[in-house]
Amino acid sequence: INIAVLVSGRGSNLQSVIDSIESGDIQNAAIKVVISDIGDAYALERARNHRISTVFIDPSSFENKQAFEQEILRALKGHDIGLILLAGYMRIMGKEMIRTYRNRIINIHPALLPSFMGLHAQQQAFDYGVKVSGCTVHFVDEGMDTGPIILQKCVPVMEDDTAETLAARILEQEHKILPEAVKLFVEGKLKVEGRVVVHT
Ligand code: GRF
Repeated sequence: INIAVLVSGRGSNLQSVIDSIESGDIQNAAIKVVISDIGDAYALERARNHRISTVFIDPSSFENKQAFEQEILRALKGHDIGLILLAGYMRIMGKEMIRTYRNRIINIHPALLPSFMGLHAQQQAFDYGVKVSGCTVHFVDEGMDTGPIILQKCVPVMEDDTAETLAARILEQEHKILPEAVKLFVEGKLKVEGRVVVHT
């Protein structure tokens, strides 16, 4: 399966998938392209280090969101992409992208959905005072962080945590469940039944 990864930042989740492919833990998959909406995202350098082709698409050079999305679709075309990963990609997917790649777009979110959707989920959880938090890998639908859940992992919130130490504990688990979800997808083991993802 050919994979495209959309990123906006440091790319540690991208790295976790690259590593799982290179180690042979994920087989029959290749990352064909990494697309960023931020020109100097460190994720692009990680991709280049592994000879993965990169594309920077500058949102400010398009008239509207639709034109920007068209450019992403163009960048995907020709790679025969079977799976798109949103790995720290900080934008909401447009309708056409979701329609074109229904149940083939996977996002990683740093909270236990449906709690703490949207930005700064770790800070939201910390401020709320929950005693456990975690991360969620899910298929992307039209909503924000609302799609069918594939995997979740919890972590405790400790007395002496800050939002940052909590985020670091969550990130460690993100790096496990994102590759795990990719592996399940590539092996054809995920079936979406309405809201529910069944592992076959
Ligand atoms: C992660 O916490 C991810 O869950 C969130 O953004 C962060 C991206 O980190 N969506 P990285 O770019 O993968 O290092």
